[in-house]
Amino acid sequence: MKQQLEAIKLRALQALDAAETPAALDELRVKLLGKKGELTAVLKMMGKLSPEERPVMGQLANAVRADIEAKLEERKTAINAAVLEAKLAAESIDVTIPGDAVELGHQHPMNMVLQEIKEIFVGLGYQVVDGPEVELASYNFTRLNIEEGHPSRDRSDTFYFTDDDAVLLRTQTSPMQIRYMEEHKPPLCMLAPGRVFRKDEADATHSPMFHQIEGLVVDEHITMGDLKGALVAIMKKIYGEDSQMRFRPHHFPFTEPSCEMDMQCHKCHGTGEQGGKVCSTCHGEGWIELLGAGMVHPDVLANCGIDPEKYSGFAFGMGLERMAMGRLKINDLRLIFDNDMRFLNQF
Ligand code: PHE
Repeated sequence: MKQQLEAIKLRALQALDAAETPAALDELRVKLLGKKGELTAVLKMMGKLSPEERPVMGQLANAVRADIEAKLEERKTAINAAVLEAKLAAESIDVTIPGDAVELGHQHPMNMVLQEIKEIFVGLGYQVVDGPEVELASYNFTRLNIEEGHPSRDRSDTFYFTDDDAVLLRTQTSPMQIRYMEEHKPPLCMLAPGRVFRKDEADATHSPMFHQIEGLVVDEHITMGDLKGALVAIMKKIYGEDSQMRFRPHHFPFTEPSCEMDMQCHKCHGTGEQGGKVCSTCHGEGWIELLGAGMVHPDVLANCGIDPEKYSGFAFGMGLERMAMGRLKINDLRLIFDNDMRFLNQF
């Protein structure tokens, strides 16, 4: 019997050492110490022992039981600690791991160039103003000398809101000349950037919505020389001292005389071709049109209550997209509006 008890103890302690979860431990406790357990079975046989042997074996059995209980307690503490340890390790937050960086965006390339242009003009004393995109035909056309029946008033070119064609999406920023001269009297120096809308198919240099920057200077003795001087100086600031510009005569109903200003194509450097093919950026012209300009028509001044005998002025309207394309060497206008991050991230 003594050997039996020793064997039970040895097996019990080994089994307890091998147990690794609270459930396994619980199972062992029932198996080793429960009513149907081995130890209980041995104890039940005590009755068959001689009166001398009984207390000795009883003591031994109790000692075995105490050893098993002590081991059980020891393993329970160890396993619980291990479980807690594992849980802590699994759920721990390592505050030293670098987080997901939130990338800071930047201005759209168009806004970068607009900002640059505005700063140059503000430095020259221009006042930057804003105006409505939904405009009256009287401001967009009539008071700019663009009579009824003029092709630019055609419904195939202009987005109208009303059946009588009185309200429209402005097709140019030039109505800001009228709005500004209604409110301000010479000497005046205005810059009005904004969106304009025309029924154009989108291609490498056209979009139904684009941006213009209108400029207007009115004072005594303003001449075409002032116009050319100002525009050349500004373009050299934007595109660099060695950039090439040219003026061509043109016609606008609201300026007289009128001209257009071109910049040498940044893609083909004026040759009109790119690797044996017609340059796709300037369509083989070698030049890119940047703006329309001219001396403010006397009728337009008079329309705004300014005496054309005393005052004269120049006005210009430049295409911001064209300016940005040249400034940032962008070859296709559509890239500016596509919002493709691969494009935008380059600036
Ligand atoms: N508004 C004209 C256009 O859109 C440009 C322009 C502005 C011309 C001012 C002369 C003076 O083409």
